[in-house]
Amino acid sequence: MESPFNSNALRGKVALLTGGGSGIGFEISTQFGKHGASVAIMGRRRNALDGAVSALTSLGIPAVGFEGDVRKLEDAKRVVEATVRHFGKLDILVNAAAGNFLAAAEDLSPNGFKTVMDIDTVGTFTMCHEALKYLKKDGPGKTASTGGLILNISATLHYTAAWYQIHVSAAKAGIDALTRNLALEWGTDYDIRVNGIAPGPIGDTAGMSKLQPDEINNNTRESIPLYKLGEKWDIAMAAVYLASDAGKYINGSILPVDGGLWLSRPRY
Ligand code: HXC
Repeated sequence: MESPFNSNALRGKVALLTGGGSGIGFEISTQFGKHGASVAIMGRRRNALDGAVSALTSLGIPAVGFEGDVRKLEDAKRVVEATVRHFGKLDILVNAAAGNFLAAAEDLSPNGFKTVMDIDTVGTFTMCHEALKYLKKDGPGKTASTGGLILNISATLHYTAAWYQIHVSAAKAGIDALTRNLALEWGTDYDIRVNGIAPGPIGDTAGMSKLQPDEINNNTRESIPLYKLGEKWDIAMAAVYLASDAGKYINGSILPVDGGLWLSRPRY
């Protein structure tokens, strides 16, 4: 679907996306690039990174891929610095890397719980922490009079409760807490906006195929007010909006993009 936004909406911006080589992260990478940004993507799998970078460059998007695991502080530091070396600055950090699997709480080992917390929540904090000095309005390479943007991808499942997702619910709740607290501290001190997007069920993603193989098309359709699964495009358009000047007064907000699913109830 064609974007309703001007193709210059993110012109001159440099974005780094964790998990930017696949799924929702890749769609955000693509749309950021189509709206004028240069894009660095970080991921654990070299093959996925290479494929994503060549897809982006074939669209004329300046793109580079850096291998790294957000659980490793040295990787976070190296990738942030490599991005700034490559493109000269950093304006936008998108934390889209995530780990997930279905497991009942009683069967989930503490290490399984910790693994998802480490990828999602601690990884998000680590990336934010390493990116901070570049995102400040007077940071290296910055000419703009405003600070940068952090965009954290969470979910809606922790708004209530979700079967077999205790680890992910805790991790995504933690991400939302990071979003609000960093918005307060870094918005005030450094003019950095920190926002979140909470996707609902999005078709054609690893999350969907892992979590709700087939039933989604039958059961969930009945309870989504807009009567359809979301598309990766829907999340990417929310990201373009929040990253553009249209979102300049939005800080500390977490935007659910789920067709209203999380608050829907059976009709009585
Ligand atoms: C139970 C599991 C498990 C499973 C791993 N573990 N998979 N426990 N069921 N299916 C446990 C292991 O037993 C181990 O604990 C611990 O987790 C670490 O496992 P490793 O395999 O060593 O971890 P690692 O290789 O680092 O893999 C991380 C991963 C992996 C999260 C487990 O699945 C992964 O990264 N997947 C790719 C990313 C992904 O799925 N992205 C989609 C995100 S979708 P023990 O105790 O045995 O040592 C998303 C949407 C959320 O986030 C919202 C939806 C609405």
